[in-house]
Amino acid sequence: MLELRDLHANYGEIVVLKGVNIFVRQGEIVSLIGPNGAGKSTVIKSVFSIAQVTKGEVIFEGKPITHKQTHELLKLGIVYMPQGKVIFSNLTVEENIKISGEILLNAEKLKERIDWVYSLFPVLKRKSRQLAFGLSGGERQMLALARALVISPKLLMLDEPSLGLSPKLQAELFSTISKIRERTKSSILIVEQNAKKAIEISDRTYLLEDGKVVLSGGKEIVKRKEIKAVYLGGRY
Ligand SMILES: Nc1ncnc2c1ncn2[C@@H]1O[C@H](COP(=O)(O)OP(=O)(O)O)[C@@H](O)[C@H]1O
Ligand SMILES: [Mg+2]
Repeated sequence: MLELRDLHANYGEIVVLKGVNIFVRQGEIVSLIGPNGAGKSTVIKSVFSIAQVTKGEVIFEGKPITHKQTHELLKLGIVYMPQGKVIFSNLTVEENIKISGEILLNAEKLKERIDWVYSLFPVLKRKSRQLAFGLSGGERQMLALARALVISPKLLMLDEPSLGLSPKLQAELFSTISKIRERTKSSILIVEQNAKKAIEISDRTYLLEDGKVVLSGGKEIVKRKEIKAVYLGGRY
């Protein structure tokens, strides 16, 4: 479904990605882990043309989508949840959820999707008319996810969804991500600092270091010394 082929990307003069090869099949959860500054966020930002792709290709459903802009990708069903729970504090919970959906869906379909999202996050339903300003960290994360999910994305890209959450909320978040995969046919690409949890819920995980994939594989890679080095080294 998504394939990054020999992706090279820069910010101006700064070279960040040095030939990244990654693929995500339909319905898969794939994680990208690695130390701070490795280029994980840049992988997602390259797909969205926020970082400059200088070489290589982004392929989605067999077609090249390199250099496409956010609104074009949204129409194709690719949604990006940036690092840091970006929500509109001065809008209500429901207004936040509606934002991307209003452009792409008719009123009836939107209502149906909002109900579906509320079934996944009942707390958001209870607080639908409150300002997002008053939400807790965990609830803000749910809201950011709800907003991404409302348009039934084919491909959901999440940048550090567990960042700043308590261990209990992290566990809930990861089980929600697994639930999303079970209930939809969406493919999910996650950038995660919690390497162990990411590997646990993923079909495949890529370890990125200094702009290159240095290791990839299924759940068995949790035992590899490179992975242990990443989280024992405290580089997160
Ligand atoms: N907007 C930017 N302009 C210049 N350099 C950037 C920008 N964003 C990130 N970088 C640099 O690119 C490298 C990779 O960053 P990033 O992809 O955010 O890493 P990660 O998500 O793995 O922590 C880092 O060295 C960072 O300083
Ligand atoms: Mg990052």
